[in-house]
This record gives sequence, structure tokens and C-alpha cells, in this order.
Amino acid sequence: MKLWGGRFKKSTDKLVEEFTTSLLFDKRLYREDIAGSIAHVKALARAGIIESKEADALIAGLSEIYRQIESGKFSFDVGDEDIHMAIERALIDKLGPLGGKLHTARSRNDQVALDLRLYLKQSITSLIKSIMAFQNVLIEKAEKHLDVIMPGYTHLQVAQPILFAHHLMAYFFMLLRDLDRLKDCYRRTDVLVLGSAALAGTSFEIDRQFLAKELGFSTVSQNSMDAVSDRDFVVEFLAASSLVATHLSRLAEEIIIWSSQEFSFIELDDAFSTGSSIMPQKKNPDVAELVRGKSGRIFGNLIAMLVVLKGLPLAYNRDLQEDKEALFDTFDNLQLSLETMKGLISTMKIKAQNMFLAADGNFIAATDYADYLVGRGVPFRAAHEIVGEIVKYCNQENKQLSHLSLEELRNFSQLFEEDALKLADTRTVVERRLSFGGTASKSVKRQLREAKLILNKEQKWLAEA
Ligand code: ARG
Repeated sequence: MKLWGGRFKKSTDKLVEEFTTSLLFDKRLYREDIAGSIAHVKALARAGIIESKEADALIAGLSEIYRQIESGKFSFDVGDEDIHMAIERALIDKLGPLGGKLHTARSRNDQVALDLRLYLKQSITSLIKSIMAFQNVLIEKAEKHLDVIMPGYTHLQVAQPILFAHHLMAYFFMLLRDLDRLKDCYRRTDVLVLGSAALAGTSFEIDRQFLAKELGFSTVSQNSMDAVSDRDFVVEFLAASSLVATHLSRLAEEIIIWSSQEFSFIELDDAFSTGSSIMPQKKNPDVAELVRGKSGRIFGNLIAMLVVLKGLPLAYNRDLQEDKEALFDTFDNLQLSLETMKGLISTMKIKAQNMFLAADGNFIAATDYADYLVGRGVPFRAAHEIVGEIVKYCNQENKQLSHLSLEELRNFSQLFEEDALKLADTRTVVERRLSFGGTASKSVKRQLREAKLILNKEQKWLAEA
């Protein structure tokens, strides 16, 4: 018999049970569900709806159920529909009619929204920790290879030389925005919805401020209908996560390219690569490929949730049950991606020589020749044209810029002097980029200092969350 079975003449069709149950995936919310129920019991006692002895017995019963689930001794039955029903039924089995008092002034509609918010708050802090650990690895790797020069690309064509550390720190700052978005999402998740009951609030005197305090929420929802039907916080989480996945996927793509034979900028650690079942020589970047691939399902979860929400009339509708798998799937896959990529980045070997050789030559100093002429009064566009001619000449003569004599340079502009012969030095090209946020080592060191300060601050946020 269902806990809600009173008005029914027939029992539920097996197929309907199977179709409607969420127990297999929402049992993951048992901690939050029991914490919510214990707080609710306290609120019922404070309002004089149950006696304090009854409250004690209910709390003891719930705590015992908690221990049973933790130790794997709780038997789940799909007939119970969801984790809320499973726990309530177990409580009634234990305590008899007293167990039936738990659900006074509450509905599964505010209960499930509460559970999800509690769960997501944890998930967000856990993800933020993983992001910060990942950022720390980027910092460490950057510091360890501070003198390594590589080509910077646009259109995947060699553009200007950069520090490898500069490239890594680009990902640090991307992830910093992600962290900020997750914190923002946390703020809007951190709202107590319990006490909204089914949709309209309750006739019992439930002290919602007390509940918020008990359960660690910063604010209380203002409108019961909004409270039970709002899943914006889930969408925000899925969206913020999608951007994290985007960033990881971009990095994964670079790792894949860098580890190819043609680039050979890095070598992945054996522990973080896989082999081929047919080609004995192969060492494949499967971890990076899966990180790139998993972004697909993570975006899918975001779209799925938006579509579930867009046509829903107020207030609660069963469609909302679809929120949980999307959220869990995104959380699990993203956290695993972050942790695995962290290991991959921290163990990969940098082939500094190859990186440098790819940057050296390739007319990588061409912009600096143009800038040189600009320094002598030539408008940038004209300087661009002149250096373009020089590159054309080099291509015809099969020469690099560094091979050119002063006479050859002067054929293109009389403004070139002796000092122009040093323009092509790749390291000097890097060190000239001293603009704030540029790639010169002085600037990259400043970024690293700033990054560490920021992470320290974020650590404080975590401690208070
Ligand atoms: N399993 C449901 C969910 O995940 C819980 C709420 C059910 N409420 C209801 N009125 N049927 O959304």
C-alpha cells in the first residue's frame, strides 16, 4: 500500500511504478533528506505541533535510518517511489503511527527542492575545491617551466613566441571566472524553501527562519509557489559547469595536438595514457579525448533541463523529477574530468627544446620588425607592408629574418640600423612584450603572484561556505 494510497481503489500498475520511480537515482539524497527531516521535526516541536518526547523519538528513528543506509543495511524498494517515501515508510515501520506525524506541514514538493539545494551547495563547494586544486597544478607547472618558450598561435598558425607559462596561466584565469560563476550560483542555491509545503504554504506555524538557521541557509524564499517550482539554480549550475567543461575541453584539445608526433611539445606520462589493442607502438591521449568528449553530455544536461522547465505551469509538476540525473551526471563527470586532467597536466613532460625550435624562425619576429619601423616614425600600416615585402623576399631566398644583413634590410627601408639585426632573437621578442598581461617573464611572474593571492582569498571563501 502506498503512503498516499487512501483514495485509490486499485494498486499501481507495475509499469507505472517502474516508470515513475526516482529511487534508483535520488537515494543519493538520503543525507540531505534526513537532515531536512530532522530540522523539520524540530520546527514541528517548536510550534507545539508535536511533543518534545515525540520529536526525540522521531529524530532517533531518523538517525537510525541514516546509519542503516550508511552501512548498506537499508533495503530499498522501488515501490516506494522515491527516497523521501522510502525513508518515511521506514520511519513508520519503526515507530508506528508516530512516524506518520513527520510529514505534517510539509510536502514532497518543498522537501525535494530542499534536498536538492542542500546537495548542490555541497557539490558546488566540492567542485570549487577541484578547480582550485587544478589551478594550483597550473601554477606549479608554470613556475617550474618559467623559461620555456613556445609558439603562440592564431588560426593554429605560428604567430608570436610566448612563454609556456603564459599559455598555462590563460587557463588559470578562465577557471577563475568559472569559480566566480559557481560561487554566484551558490548564492542563489543558498535559499531555504522548506515550509512552502505543496505550493501554497501551510496553516501550521512553521518558523522558517529557524529552519534556515538549522539547515545553514542564508535566506528564506519569499514565495511558496516559486519555491517549489524553481530549478533556476540547477540551470545555473549546469550552465556554469558547461563553461568549465568547455575550458577543459579546449585544454584537452591542445594536449592532444601537443602530444602528436608532428608537434611533439609534450610527452604524457604512461600512467595517464593508454595503448592501442592493435598497434604496439601507440601511446594515446585517451584521457584528454574523453575530457573533450564528456563536454558533450554536460552541454546536453543543460539543454535537457532548460527544455524540461520551459513549458511548466506553476507550481510543482512531476517533470521536475528529471532535474536530478542531469545534475548528478554533470557533477560526477565534471569532477572526474577535473581530477584526471589535474593528474595528466602535473605528470606530463615538457619538451622545451622542441617548443623553442617551433617558435624560433617561422618569421615569428615579423611584428617586431614592423614595431621597430613604427618606433622610427613609420605609420603601422606602412610598416606592416614593408615587413610583408621582407617576408616575401625571405621566402624567395629561402632565408629567415635573422639571416638578413643590414644591407638587405636597408633595401626595404633606410630606417633600419645596426640594432635591427638583433630583432629576430626569439627570447628578446618574448621579453619585449612587457605590457600589463603580456608574455614577458616579468609580466608572467606578476600573474603568478596575483594568482596565488587570489587562491588564498578563495580559500577563505571556501572555509566560510
Ligand atoms: N520524486 C519526486 C521528484 O523528484 C519528488 C516529489 C514528488 N511530488 C509529488 N507530488 N509527486 O520531484
